[in-house]
Amino acid sequence: MRMYDLIEKKRDGGRLTKDEIDFIINGYVDGIIPDYQISAWLMAVFFVGMDDEEILNLTQAMAHSGDMVDLSPIEGIKVDKHSTGGVGDKTTLIVAPIVAANGVKVAKMSGRGLGHTGGTVDKLESIPGYRTDLSEKEFFDVVRSTGLSVIGQSGNLTPADKKLYALRDVTATVNSIPLIASSIMSKKIAAGSDAILLDVKVGSGAFMRSVDDAVKLAQVMCRLGEMAGRNTRALITDMDKPLGWAIGNSLEVTEAVNTLSGKGPKDLTHECIMLASQMMVLAGLGSEQECEEKAKRVIEDGSALNKLMLMVKAQGGDESVIADPSNFGSAKIVREVRAPGDGYIASMDSEGIGVASQILGAGRETLEDTIDYLAGIILNKKTGDKVSKGDIIARLYTNDESKIEASLKRFLSSIVIGDNEPESKPLIFARVSADEVIMY
Ligand code: URA
Repeated sequence: MRMYDLIEKKRDGGRLTKDEIDFIINGYVDGIIPDYQISAWLMAVFFVGMDDEEILNLTQAMAHSGDMVDLSPIEGIKVDKHSTGGVGDKTTLIVAPIVAANGVKVAKMSGRGLGHTGGTVDKLESIPGYRTDLSEKEFFDVVRSTGLSVIGQSGNLTPADKKLYALRDVTATVNSIPLIASSIMSKKIAAGSDAILLDVKVGSGAFMRSVDDAVKLAQVMCRLGEMAGRNTRALITDMDKPLGWAIGNSLEVTEAVNTLSGKGPKDLTHECIMLASQMMVLAGLGSEQECEEKAKRVIEDGSALNKLMLMVKAQGGDESVIADPSNFGSAKIVREVRAPGDGYIASMDSEGIGVASQILGAGRETLEDTIDYLAGIILNKKTGDKVSKGDIIARLYTNDESKIEASLKRFLSSIVIGDNEPESKPLIFARVSADEVIMY
């Protein structure tokens, strides 16, 4: 087999066989096929697409390119969750404890943030002492003793995705449904859970900019999950504005603790209850309505917050910041952002707001950058809110004074103030499984 012929075949609209896809992925991981040929092939896939069987074969080849985690030594149904990435998305920190407090095990590997989106691993590492690099034995022990564990991805999970994603990032081939679906689902399949809930974001801070595209991506991923023997569902959720009020690592952990204490922002609380209840439905705990009630109950009785506390303690973290998040301390510099005029917040560019937070030190531009865990943004107003000139619309937090002006500029250019109240949009657009789409 020659890589040249496979590039040509895909470029001309052909279907690749399982053997051909295995040849490409194994050859790339082994360093036999060079980046420039894979780049050309990625671009051909970007334009021509792939059918379901090709995407499944690509996903399986990527999943098997490294370790496949076997969670079967842990008793019970293990349910995973994946978000396609957003701004202010701290749902894992809330949803995993809710689900675990209802007896469903969560053994989850999460990622770091890059660019405008945050990563759960960085948020957890803002808790002093919290270890995300547990060995497999430690990981399993924490899940067994507390019901949940969230760690970073092990070094050899889906090496094919690591190489391909880095190349896609610099060759303008990220935004392709077959490539996104195989990238996400290869990691989820390799991570070993029995069931998977996908949170597919749509809007200005997401890969998918229309609900139609988000539904298409979700359907492909659900079919991949089912074909791999994993019970899979997706919710399509809004990312046209940040989720909750807080953006930035310790600021988001604080908001997660408040939400688990029943004092969280309305949008975040609602979305977390919906995500958690879908995970419980996947685990066979009852109907959607019953599971929603179960999710609300463990917030009210404090058992979900207790689960977060147990996991943090078991992974070496300082529980005092969960008991009282003011123990995180505060960034040295806090700058108020004031409304430049009267009217309504007509729209927010979530990506731009994520970048403003990244500039303050909350995120990385390259994987080598270090993070200021106290940096970020607390919003005071969001899309649809009425503002008068001079009202505080947000506060920027950083320990580096030199970053304030660039961040402020980016933040203000991400907000549009208009005369008319914008139409309100749903927070959750649809629920998707392999064979149905239910619009909310
Ligand atoms: N997240 C991933 O893990 N992969 C993609 O391709 C896009 C989002």
